[in-house]
Amino acid sequence: MNENFWAYIICSVLVVYTINRIRIRLQLSRAKHPSLRGHSKWSRRITRKIPYFSYNESHYFTCDGAPEAIALKRKTALNHLTKNVSKSCEKTIHYGNKLEKNISDIQFTSNYRIPFPFQKLLPKAFKLGSIVEETQGTKIKDIDGNWRFDLTGSYGVNVFGYDFYKDCMDKGFEQVKDLGPVLGAYHPIIGENVELIKRISGLDEVSFHMSGTEAVMQAVRLARYHTKKTHLVRFCGAYHGWWDGVQPGVGNRRKVNDVYTLADLSDHALHVLATRNDIACVLINPLQAFHPNSDSGSDSTLIASDRATNFNKKQYTTWLKNIQEICNRRNIVLIFDEVFTGFRLGYRGAQGYFDIQADLVTYGKTLGGGLPVGVLAGQAHLMKRFRKDAPADVSFARGTFNSHPYVMGAMNEFLNRIQSPEIQNIYQTIENTWDKRVEAFNHKLKINHLPIKITNMHSILSVIYTQPSRYNWMLQFYLKNAGLELSWLGSGRMIMSFNFTDEEFNEVTQLFIEAALTMKNDGWWWQSPKLTNQIIKRQFLFDLLTHKFPNLSYVIAKVFPMLIKVHVLDASSNQTAIPKSTELKTAEITKITKPVTPLSKMKAIAMKETTIKKVS
Ligand SMILES: Cc1ncc(COP(=O)(O)O)c(C=O)c1O
Repeated sequence: MNENFWAYIICSVLVVYTINRIRIRLQLSRAKHPSLRGHSKWSRRITRKIPYFSYNESHYFTCDGAPEAIALKRKTALNHLTKNVSKSCEKTIHYGNKLEKNISDIQFTSNYRIPFPFQKLLPKAFKLGSIVEETQGTKIKDIDGNWRFDLTGSYGVNVFGYDFYKDCMDKGFEQVKDLGPVLGAYHPIIGENVELIKRISGLDEVSFHMSGTEAVMQAVRLARYHTKKTHLVRFCGAYHGWWDGVQPGVGNRRKVNDVYTLADLSDHALHVLATRNDIACVLINPLQAFHPNSDSGSDSTLIASDRATNFNKKQYTTWLKNIQEICNRRNIVLIFDEVFTGFRLGYRGAQGYFDIQADLVTYGKTLGGGLPVGVLAGQAHLMKRFRKDAPADVSFARGTFNSHPYVMGAMNEFLNRIQSPEIQNIYQTIENTWDKRVEAFNHKLKINHLPIKITNMHSILSVIYTQPSRYNWMLQFYLKNAGLELSWLGSGRMIMSFNFTDEEFNEVTQLFIEAALTMKNDGWWWQSPKLTNQIIKRQFLFDLLTHKFPNLSYVIAKVFPMLIKVHVLDASSNQTAIPKSTELKTAEITKITKPVTPLSKMKAIAMKETTIKKVS
């Protein structure tokens, strides 16, 4: 055989190999969600490039093109609300201000309460969270003595009402107080906890950790250890704690190369699971059933009103069953991350709710009976941390405070109480109760002509805005002022505890509606036929580009409208004024964010032109 023959063979093999690699890569790409959330690396790169800019006072109230009269109404309303809040929350604001300098968490949350261009001019009274000192039933009291209905759910911990947890903590403490904080050795109470968790999870063994994040870390580590495979699959938008191994995108600087973020409810994703050989585990946060492929809503990301939820239990159950079937067939560990859904969606959590038995299940939040915890339950062969045939090849996991006696005590109370017929009955009826309450709530919203719809999955509620607006985020401040306590995510999510009575929830809906009506009367939901969600997002992009490239603002002002057909929303009349595509009021933004120094001549001309056009 001559040399040419071998060269031909080698080239052919290389071509086939390359084509195959490209095909596999394309399959993976197709299995990702087309949004930025589905592309971790790109989302990280792009978010880093987004510049900070803020609106000046006139733009603050008219960035949707509202006329001056509406802007004035909004401004007056904001002043009025600020006065009210400053008066009723004086101590809270003062104390919050002092804390903000020292607690980085407050700095973060107060910065991400609303979309960033509005932050700078948001009165301080609204930026800070609550400082609270007492709970009773469904209400919480701040240090100024204001009692509000608690819609925060304490990150999901509060399933049965704060009094229930106070009791778990007190009685749990009684059970273990003679031992004190002994670690390493176990209080005997742990045995009953383990038996109950095994029974509830349908699994063989349990390990204790200090947070949900750690329980997830341990589940993933064990899955890799036992399958000897490298990659984790998670689904777009799902939160699994703040460990960078499950957070490959925004929020984490480290490059994560062993995680695939795939699209929920996607046949392409199933194909990837069914064909790739490097997948150790699939991690599922069942809460994603509420809003597949998107994050939980927050007011800080509310640029427009196009956020939707899309809960379809039947469809999601089929999806999960398909995943389970592939996992069983292909030696992939199916992990249900039930840190949020466990003990909420039902006694057996999401496993019971969707009728799926996972291989590993993580719990946390409410299972601690009010104290911090993370728990992993799993099949015996997956929970092993050593190999008999290779004694040095271990899977390591520790944590000083694992199985702390006080946590075990409160957990014991929690697990025993939920066995009671009363709570078992609540589990049977509570979903229907919340469905009905949400239905009645929506009816009231509708007859009051409010641009809001409430969606729910079980006892988790979302506020959806039904008409385009740039100011939906204001609602959180009206709600708080009306006596409704929200988490820092704002009005995007309301996590309801099961102890709300019909009367109490009626009161909540009444307060909600009154607050929303006030906001409507204050002009924040001013409408114009040209104000679509698409236009709002383009306006925002335009604002962003002109800030990012101030020297090119003239060119952007000229080219951008032609490229993407932006329509001007004229602030000087009640109607959108200019029917043809043209420029936005961008010069204003440029003026605010960068003080007008003699920049380039071009930019000065751009400003002048756009301002003149706006006025005319
Ligand atoms: C599904 C899920 N997994 C993990 C975590 C992380 O739990 P923790 O905050 O206790 O670390 C959370 C927290 O919100 C969660 O919702």
